[in-house]
Amino acid sequence: MQTVSKQGARTGRLIGAIAVVTGGGKGVGRAISLELAAEGADVAVVSHSDVAAAEQVAGEIRELGRRAVAVKADITDRESVEGMIGTVCDALGTLDVLVNNAGYTAHGPLEQLSEADWDAVFAVNAKGTFLCSVAAARRMIPAGRGSIVNIAGASAHRSYPFAGGYGPAKAAVVNLTRQMSLEWAKHGIRVNGVSPGPIREAGSGWETREPELAEEVRRLPLRQAADPVDVARAVAFLASPHAASTTGHMLLVDGGGVNTWYLAPQDYAEGGG
Ligand SMILES: NC(=O)c1ccc[n+]([C@@H]2O[C@H](COP(=O)([O-])OP(=O)(O)OC[C@H]3O[C@@H](n4cnc5c(N)ncnc54)[C@H](OP(=O)(O)O)[C@@H]3O)[C@@H](O)[C@H]2O)c1
Repeated sequence: MQTVSKQGARTGRLIGAIAVVTGGGKGVGRAISLELAAEGADVAVVSHSDVAAAEQVAGEIRELGRRAVAVKADITDRESVEGMIGTVCDALGTLDVLVNNAGYTAHGPLEQLSEADWDAVFAVNAKGTFLCSVAAARRMIPAGRGSIVNIAGASAHRSYPFAGGYGPAKAAVVNLTRQMSLEWAKHGIRVNGVSPGPIREAGSGWETREPELAEEVRRLPLRQAADPVDVARAVAFLASPHAASTTGHMLLVDGGGVNTWYLAPQDYAEGGG
């Protein structure tokens, strides 16, 4: 079978689009920002504490020949979010795509989890997605078009011990995705999401640093963590006209994990399990 390069051929399916990526300066958000730009979009890279990282990614996007701005915002604060969306529209033009990627987690046994940790996880993942989406939709509604992609997680679809409020907050993102898709369909706005399982950069040596996660990943049907580019490509598809008839959908990028429990490698042998 032919191996598809991680660089891959681009389709230009987002040429002319203006996109905002929250948490776009690092990790998965960086991969999403660069993938949208590679597909032709101009991109606003939103950061909270690490402005330098967002500036760096904006510079990489400009080197690709697209326009880019780095914008600082706290997505848990309505005034900050509305200021950020206004700044982006002033700098780049009418917004076409919002990617709610910024996330936060605080692990621990539920009976020991502080109220502050519970609130912080819901504030970034659930409230942040709500505030950014509403601010973007208010700009998209008069234009009669737009696409929003929310990053949830496999944790929204199944539960893990000691994940704190993360799974519940991501489950809220899944339900909010459906609700927004219903309310805004009449305005030509599609709202979808991506639920990744473990995401690690292939070839970065993470397996040595995180042996317990590596063992879990070996028990996934596809036996691999998603590369950030895998998530970014799923986002680019959902954001683009290639997904013109898709709304309210969560695309799993999880190596098949949600469809089963963690199996031992021998369970995949014929007759196993
Ligand atoms: N990594 C995984 O294995 C995995 C698996 C499933 C789902 N996910 C989800 O995928 C997304 C990206 O994951 P990641 O691992 O790349 O995340 P990450 O490296 O932890 O980065 C989180 C990002 O969120 C931003 N952020 C946090 N609080 C914010 C706030 N109040 N306002 C604005 N931005 C804020 C941070 O910006 P600053 O750095 O500027 O503060 C940062 O860029 C998240 O939604 C995560 O839950 C990740």
